[in-house]
Amino acid sequence: MSEKEKKSVIINNVELEAVAVAPAGYPGSGLPEIAFVGRSNVGKSSLINTMINRKALARTSQTPGKTRTINFYNVESDMYFVDLPGYGYAKAPKSESQKWGQMIEKYLLNRPTLCAIILLIDIRHEPSKHDVQMYEWLKHYGYDIIIAATKQDKLAKNKVKPSVSVIAKGLGLKADDVLIPFSSETKEGRDALWEVVKAKANRLRGIEGE
Ligand code: GTP
Ligand code: MG
Repeated sequence: MSEKEKKSVIINNVELEAVAVAPAGYPGSGLPEIAFVGRSNVGKSSLINTMINRKALARTSQTPGKTRTINFYNVESDMYFVDLPGYGYAKAPKSESQKWGQMIEKYLLNRPTLCAIILLIDIRHEPSKHDVQMYEWLKHYGYDIIIAATKQDKLAKNKVKPSVSVIAKGLGLKADDVLIPFSSETKEGRDALWEVVKAKANRLRGIEGE
């Protein structure tokens, strides 16, 4: 077994514990939560599957607008991964996207156990107006944000660094923001993201420096 494999986080128990459209449907156990936000089709559900080592527990699709509810995945009874509907899905009827927007906003603004937000940006594209708005909105509310630059496998290796710079500049990232290139195909970035996620969850639990 290689060094890398030895260090990889092994997940034994994950279940989709709650599917919510409003606060009454959120789980009440008080475990730390990590939320995944980003435009439709950027790879949120795929990234969750990669993190929990499941092929298709979170439903994915080539067609944007697949995830339409707030889905709480209980990971090892230790934390929740929260899969959210994407934003910026141009073909969704306006009433639908407003509904999703309100649903996401309500969740993000009223969740004391939410300890980190992973903002996903497609590594191949400059951040959109929506991405920048989301980043600034999250910063404004004081959230720790981790950027996952998705679909890294679709880029040539020598294009990764310049693309990361474009994203950093487009969003106006600050020195303490973390950006992790990620691929659900190759699992690149999985270990790095797990490390950050565990640190954030432990901080919420009051366990520093684990
Ligand atoms: P919504 O639920 O609609 O908001 O989308 P989502 O952000 O959850 O995206 P999803 O995970 O469903 O992925 C969208 C498409 O991108 C699917 O066809 C995935 O197979 C593909 N995809 C996601 N991540 C990667 C990746 O890292 N590499 C490649 N090559 N394809 C990816
Ligand atoms: Mg999804």
